[in-house]
Amino acid sequence: MNRDDAWTIVTENVEQPGLRRHMLAVEAAMRHYAAKLDGEVEAWGLAGLLHDYDWEIHPTLDAHPKEGIPLLVERGCPPEVVRAIQAHNPEGTGVDAEAPMDFALRACDEITGLVIAAALVRPSKDVRDVPLKSIRKRWKERSFAAGVDREEVERATADFSGRCFDNGLELWAHAQNVLEAMQGAAAALDLDGRLASVSGG
Ligand SMILES: [Fe+2]
Ligand SMILES: [Fe+2]
Repeated sequence: MNRDDAWTIVTENVEQPGLRRHMLAVEAAMRHYAAKLDGEVEAWGLAGLLHDYDWEIHPTLDAHPKEGIPLLVERGCPPEVVRAIQAHNPEGTGVDAEAPMDFALRACDEITGLVIAAALVRPSKDVRDVPLKSIRKRWKERSFAAGVDREEVERATADFSGRCFDNGLELWAHAQNVLEAMQGAAAALDLDGRLASVSGG
């Protein structure tokens, strides 16, 4: 399975632009960390890009991603990628994070939502204009991007830090990494300012 194959699975199964953007954001963050941690960039990217592909078909935590796994296997998704996707919902799949890729996916999942929301409230609608300090400020406003579970982000970041960084990755360093990764993918995320002209400013 290559990146085009994975994107085909996404376009076949995901209609909501917001969900596609979420997976593209997690893909960008995963590729960034794979490069940092000497992981396989393509495989880590696939885990990010595909991890929620079945959410519209199986929109409950009992079924997602468990019931989406057979299709991934059938389409040739590498086993380590399948595992990382299973481990992003251990309660539903019974599969716990073990490999660095598994921990990275959990740590990158929710936090991208905060970055996306912070970009979309800016008049420019450009993620490249979002400074880390605005992420920090938004973090404390619990009603902002309220769906982003701050405690889960803290937990997942601490676990990732322990597994892959000798406990040396603190939350805001992680946020900075994710932000930079997403800034590098601004066009793919439709967060490169194009939406500012669409909405008239
Ligand atoms: Fe998910
Ligand atoms: Fe997700």
